[in-house]
Amino acid sequence: MQKNYYITTPIYYVNDVPHIGHAYTTLACDVLARYKRLTGYTVKFLTGTDEHGQKVEQSAQKAGVTPLEYATKYSAHFQRLAKTLNISNDDFIRTTETRHKQAAQALWHKLEANGFIYLGSYAGWYSVRDEAFYQESELVNGKAPSGAPVEWVEEPSYFFKLSAFEQPLLDYYAEHPETIAPKSRYNEVLSFIKGGLKDLSISRTSFAWGIPVPNNEKHIMYVWLDALANYLTAIGYPDEQSPDFKNFWENVTHVVGKDIVRFHAVYWPAFLMAAGLNLPKRIYAHGWWTNEGQKISKSVGNVIDPYALIDTYGLNAVRYFLLREVPFGQDGDFSHTAMIRRINTDLSNDLGNLCQRVFSQVFKNCNGLTRPETLTAEDTALLEKAYALPEVVGKELEVQAFHKALEEIWNVIGDANRYVDAQAPWALKKTDVERMKTVLYTLVETIRCAGLILQPFMPDAMAELLDFLHIPHDQRDWTFVVAGHALQTVPLDEPKPLFPRFVEEA
Ligand code: MSP
Repeated sequence: MQKNYYITTPIYYVNDVPHIGHAYTTLACDVLARYKRLTGYTVKFLTGTDEHGQKVEQSAQKAGVTPLEYATKYSAHFQRLAKTLNISNDDFIRTTETRHKQAAQALWHKLEANGFIYLGSYAGWYSVRDEAFYQESELVNGKAPSGAPVEWVEEPSYFFKLSAFEQPLLDYYAEHPETIAPKSRYNEVLSFIKGGLKDLSISRTSFAWGIPVPNNEKHIMYVWLDALANYLTAIGYPDEQSPDFKNFWENVTHVVGKDIVRFHAVYWPAFLMAAGLNLPKRIYAHGWWTNEGQKISKSVGNVIDPYALIDTYGLNAVRYFLLREVPFGQDGDFSHTAMIRRINTDLSNDLGNLCQRVFSQVFKNCNGLTRPETLTAEDTALLEKAYALPEVVGKELEVQAFHKALEEIWNVIGDANRYVDAQAPWALKKTDVERMKTVLYTLVETIRCAGLILQPFMPDAMAELLDFLHIPHDQRDWTFVVAGHALQTVPLDEPKPLFPRFVEEA
C-alpha cells in the first residue's frame, strides 16, 4: 500500500526579508520530507508566502508600491532562500494565486453552509504586527503578550462560532494527545481552550488587501483564515476527491514556531471540524533562536541573515548546526563560537577525519579491497550498530527529535573512531595485511551506512561522500542500510577532505 506524508512550513509574511527563524522552520521540514522519502513514503512538502493583510498593506504603502508588487518582490526572497538552503519542497504557494483565492472562498462557503458563520460587529484590540485579536485581559502593559502594539478596532465583522468547538476540541485532544508537540505546547493549548473560547472575528472592513468574503465584497477575510487555508489549497481543495487531497490530507504534519501555536492548534482544527474535514496528525511547535543571548529583532539590528551564515560556514554546516545545537522544541541561542565548535568537533574531527584517515589508507595501502569473509566480534559489533541506524534514528525523527537523531548517528561515528584507534590499521600494515583490510573494510561499510542516514540533514555533503564510494543513486534509500547490501568492493580513489576545519581569520 502507498504510504503518504504531507509536511508543511508556515507560510511566511512578505513584509520583510527572510531571517534565521524562517530558515530554521523550513529546514526542519526539509529533513522530515527527505527522511520520509528515503523510507518509502510519497511525500508532498509545501512551503510558501502569506501575502495578504494589514501588515503587508502597510509595508507596501511605506515603500510606495502596490501590495502585490511588494509581495511579489519579497516572495521571491523566500523562494530564493529555499533554493539556497537546498530545500526539497514540491510546491511553493503564494496566497495571492487564483488557486488559493478559490480554495479560501470555498472554505468560507463551507463554514457558512454548515452554519458556523454569522454577521455581527467587532469592538476590541487588534495587533497588526501579530495579525491577531486580543482580549483586554490578555494585554500586558497595554501591549500584546508578544510585545506588539495593539489598536482599538470597531467595525462590522463576520464571526466564526469558535465557542461551539470548545468541547469538541477538548474531547479530540484528550483522545489524540500526540497531535500537539512538544508536551509543553499541548498543555498550553489545552489551558487556553479550557479558559473558554469566544467566537472569532473572521473578516475586516477597514482595509482592502485580502481575499473578498463571498457575496459581501465590503469585507475581506481575516488573514489567518486565508493563510491557514493554504494547506488545503495546495492539495486541490475544494476538490476533496482529487488524488492529492485523498492521499495527503489524511496524514499531515504542520511544523510551526511556538508563537503561532494558537492559530494552528485551536483556530485551524476548529475550522476543519466545522468544514467536516479531519484534523492534522501532528502540529509541532519549535522554539525561538536568540542571537548571542539577545532577542532577535529588527530594531536591535541583530537579525541573523541566513545567506551570510551560509557564505561564512557553508550550507552543510549551517544545516547541521541548526538542528544539532538546540533540542527541537526548546529555545536556543545562536553564537559564532558554538557554530565553530560544532564544525571543528563534530564535523571536522569526528566525521571528516574518520573518513579522511580511512579513505587515505585504503587509497595508499590496499591493492583491492573486497568484502571479507570472516569478521571478529569487534567488527560485527560496529557493523551491527551501523545497521541499527535506520530504526534508531527513524524513531527519533518520527517525533521530530532531530538533535537526538544526530546524537545517535554520532554515537556510531564515535564508536568507529574508537574502533579505528583500538584496531590501529596503520600498525597492521606491517604485521597483518589481511586483518588491516578487514578493519578498513568494516570502517568504510560503517561510513557508507552513516552517509546514507545523514542524507536528510546534509544532502550535499552526503551526495559527495556517497559518490566517492560509488554508491548508485538507486541504492541510497534507507533499506540499503543492511548487511544484505554491504559493499562488495571498496573504490580506491584519492580522497578529498569532506569537512575542513574552520579557521577564524585573525
Ligand atoms: N504568516 C504567518 C504564518 C501563517 S501559517 C498559515 C507567520 N509568518 S512569519 O513570517 O512571521 O513567521 C514564520 C515562522 O518563523 C514562524 O513559525 C515563527 O515562529 C518563525 N520565527 C520567527 N522568528 C523566529 C526566531 N527568532 N526563531 C525561530 N523561529 C522564528 O507567522
